[in-house]
Amino acid sequence: MGERRPFPGRRVLLGVTGGVAAYKSIELARRLAQAGALVDTVLTPAACDFVTPLAFEAVTGRAPYLARWAPGDALRHIRLAREVEAVVVAPATADFLARAAAGRADDLLGAVLLATRVPALLCPAMNDRMFEHPATQANLERVRALGYQVLGPSIGPLAWGEGEGPGRMVEPEEIVAHLARVLERPSLAGRRVLVTAGPTREAIDPVRFVSNRSSGRMGYALAEVAWRRGAAVTLVSGPTALPPPVGVELVRVETAAAMAEAVAAHLPAADVLVMAAAPADFRPAAPAAAKLTKEDGLPPPLAWALTADILQSTRPLRRPDTRVVGFALETADDALARARAKLEAKGLDLVVLNRADEADSGFDTETNRVTVIDAAGRVDRWPLLPKAEVAERLWDRIEELLP
Ligand code: CTP
Repeated sequence: MGERRPFPGRRVLLGVTGGVAAYKSIELARRLAQAGALVDTVLTPAACDFVTPLAFEAVTGRAPYLARWAPGDALRHIRLAREVEAVVVAPATADFLARAAAGRADDLLGAVLLATRVPALLCPAMNDRMFEHPATQANLERVRALGYQVLGPSIGPLAWGEGEGPGRMVEPEEIVAHLARVLERPSLAGRRVLVTAGPTREAIDPVRFVSNRSSGRMGYALAEVAWRRGAAVTLVSGPTALPPPVGVELVRVETAAAMAEAVAAHLPAADVLVMAAAPADFRPAAPAAAKLTKEDGLPPPLAWALTADILQSTRPLRRPDTRVVGFALETADDALARARAKLEAKGLDLVVLNRADEADSGFDTETNRVTVIDAAGRVDRWPLLPKAEVAERLWDRIEELLP
């Protein structure tokens, strides 16, 4: 993980209350600790019926707190409330929500919540009927009004014999992502960002298509970082194998024409457009209506048609204060000049040049070596970096351009 990720050295308090989802909180604690966070766990007595303090100490390296106070640590709740930077309660049972809604302080977790002023995420987990009960719903409304962020529950399999319903704790991965957003400097808060990613597919016949090697990683990383920094993010994605980024509105498209349509629909609201996708430049002019078969012999040579240049087509849709970032994928020697020409021709504020002829850079790689050129002619050459770090730096650069 890059040094600028939000977790290294950050103090997080993990409250675990008594529900079966507590087994997943061990995984949550492990992920946070591996991301560099200093995790203090507070277990309620009921939580200890499901999981042991030992498990949390083993994955966090820090002894969990069970009691309200201890000799020499009489004001434990005040100390923890001051020291930590975020609180996450996972799972948050129906009983815990009732207690938090009432502001109870007769156990350590309740007392810390009252005494602290840092953000708190509550992750409810319970039986679906308990969740739907008006008492629980009222408690949820109350804790939201008190300023706690409520994550989930999601719909899915519940405890044994209970089938599926709303009440499942959100997955540790998702909790980690939300906690990262809470701990991050919200430099893009209030901004709307539109990112495109991935390749497109252009049909040859109903089962075959022309595409390219784009994995979508660069665009997904850009969407993730923008959301973590507080932006509302729409990600228009061609077909990729990547998991949907947490918190991001994902619009899946297949063809360049569909991508153009989705971009046109979302651009008017966007403050920034980052076109990291690799839409096709050409498509088969007349896709066959039925599957081409061997019986008909070799198919005729493909006739090609140009697709719309999406960046070009957005020019009339941009507001004067919309910032637009494009990529340029080059293999030629005059890459820099070609990238500059694209910046000019497509009316960009920044163009990100990457080479398609380097093994560890460009398409379908984990890393990227890019050169960033702005409209004023400034050229920044960055070293080979993980795409996640390229995304961090790019947003630093884009933020400089925002009005
Ligand atoms: N792009 C686009 N619509 C297309 C093709 C590309 O909006 N149909 C965008 C890409 O997302 C990228 C930028 O244009 O941000 C440059 O893409 P690139 O493939 O490098 O350049 P092209 O304009 O397609 O020119 P060429 O392939 O001929 O170099």
